[in-house]
Amino acid sequence: MRKALVAGNWKMHGRIEQNKLLLDGLLTQLSGLPEADIDVVICPPLVYLAQIEALIKGSSVALGSQDVSRFSSDGAHTGESSAEMLADLGVRYVIVGHSERRSEHDETDDQVATKVVNALALELTPIVCVGETLEQREADQVADVISRQLKGAISSLRRSEAERLVIAYEPVWAIGTGKTATPEQAQEVHAFIRQYLTSVFDEELSQGVTLLYGGSVNSTNAAVLFEQVDIDGGLIGGASLKSDEFTAICRAAA
Ligand code: G3P
Repeated sequence: MRKALVAGNWKMHGRIEQNKLLLDGLLTQLSGLPEADIDVVICPPLVYLAQIEALIKGSSVALGSQDVSRFSSDGAHTGESSAEMLADLGVRYVIVGHSERRSEHDETDDQVATKVVNALALELTPIVCVGETLEQREADQVADVISRQLKGAISSLRRSEAERLVIAYEPVWAIGTGKTATPEQAQEVHAFIRQYLTSVFDEELSQGVTLLYGGSVNSTNAAVLFEQVDIDGGLIGGASLKSDEFTAICRAAA
């Protein structure tokens, strides 16, 4: 039985005082959540990882990063942070291949694949993001796009590595737009992702991998999305910056 997972992707938001207020509210509101039923992850900007790690210490909330370097060894890589450095800070999850990094930083499937390997090597859990643009959906290319991104990111992994993945389906046209995918649209792609995992690995692995939906999830649509058989939780952007909203989403997933 897959455990529910909700990860908050703060993107480029936060200030020291604001973060403390948000986490104080979140930790209070999440305290009643059954830890056995759900994993909650906070992914702040890199510069706030140490602050958030200290604030969540002793709670059941886990620390996540929004990216990881494709370079695995220390060296002359200005601006980069390695998986080893993230693990050193207490990071346990890493978002990899987010559409905003694919578009704003020209991140390729090969670079995503390298980041997945680097994260797994340090026992971090990659949250591998895939998703189509509106143009690709309207051109009926969803299956092609998702399978290309999955093939590029995970097909070279050993089974023992692939079974540790989390995969997030984030239709680009739903991110930050308020235009959430319908439960049927999301479930259809999640089922496709499971079929792909079965074809590359096997049914047992496919059924064990946690699949998240991301793209304008909020307290009013979370429950109906998470009711879908192949949606195990969410990767939450804007709503993760509001403690009431994020708590309600976590409750819906638990
Ligand atoms: O990684 C999650 C993010 O892309 C979704 O953003 O604001 O639509 O929840 P948002």
